[in-house]
Amino acid sequence: MLRSTLLYLSERKGLQDFIVRRKLPRRISRRFVAGESLDEAIEVTRDLNARGMPVTLDHLGESVEREDQAMRAADDYIAILERVHRERVRTGISIKLTQIGLAIDHELCRKNLRRIAESARDLDNFVRIDMEASEYVEATLRLYYELSEEFDNLGAVIQSYLRRSEDDVRELGSRGASVRLCKGAYMEPEEVAFQKKSEVDTSFVRLLEILMQCDSPLAIATHDTRMIDVAKRLMQQNPRRDASVEFQMLYGVRRNLQAQLVHEGYRMRVYVPYGTEWYAYFMRRMAERPANLFFVLKTLTR
Ligand code: FDA
Repeated sequence: MLRSTLLYLSERKGLQDFIVRRKLPRRISRRFVAGESLDEAIEVTRDLNARGMPVTLDHLGESVEREDQAMRAADDYIAILERVHRERVRTGISIKLTQIGLAIDHELCRKNLRRIAESARDLDNFVRIDMEASEYVEATLRLYYELSEEFDNLGAVIQSYLRRSEDDVRELGSRGASVRLCKGAYMEPEEVAFQKKSEVDTSFVRLLEILMQCDSPLAIATHDTRMIDVAKRLMQQNPRRDASVEFQMLYGVRRNLQAQLVHEGYRMRVYVPYGTEWYAYFMRRMAERPANLFFVLKTLTR
């Protein structure tokens, strides 16, 4: 109930406009967001790199409604790629296709994604295409398949809560795709997504087992120690997979566990979001763990 309320609020633009301008919420958002500027994100990236963790940078923003905004978002990503190349920080980028025009026009989005992929390839970098709400899954995978014929520096994301994901994972596996596996963060109807945590977890393990049989790069994106233990066991059974598998976690979530995995010798990448459009991302983090609300309330009452 609380989860669905928070996810509902995460999509309310009016509330977003009201909240993001206020000083205190902006300060609170820093728990999960590296800052509003690229300078701040690079500083965080340097710190994580120094502690043995590469990063994937997310310049926050999604569901843009105008062509000029989509073009600007793509330009921004190209500028980020150039800047991180100059600064020699270890980071890739994660992008949302609705940020570069998917909800406006498929062709516009394709052109923008192509521009970003090309720039990343020239700079020897990697682009992960985040997966959004289920209405965009088919179009996102189609664009991924189309452009990955031309570019080998693109990766996809699969959400274990979706009923369709086993078919998608088999297809991606047969194409040698780089996949990030996560549970899924949006509010989805029963017809398309498992609703119970136990079902989502069972699906996660099933998909993990399938992906472990493939040779292509795999990112295991979870903070769930049960899922991580299953992954470790599968890696032990399949040691040739070690170099092509990494764990991924979100900035600000389970920092001790991140450090522990590095200490144990696993590859661990941190997803670092930044920018002024932090509202929807922040609300999804609240929805994942309502206990986070206590942290917000504590800060507000201080
Ligand atoms: P689960 O929600 O079961 O949590 C397990 C434990 O982790 C909790 O008990 C708690 O201790 C801790 N935890 C989890 N979330 C927390 C939070 N917000 N704050 C504090 N503790 C928390 N989703 C999506 O739909 N599309 C995408 O492209 C991505 N991309 C992505 C990249 C990376 C690197 C990560 C780690 C996650 C995503 N996600 C995502 C989000 C993902 O789908 C999922 O919503 C969250 O990771 C939470 O799920 P867990 O696997 O952590 O398990």
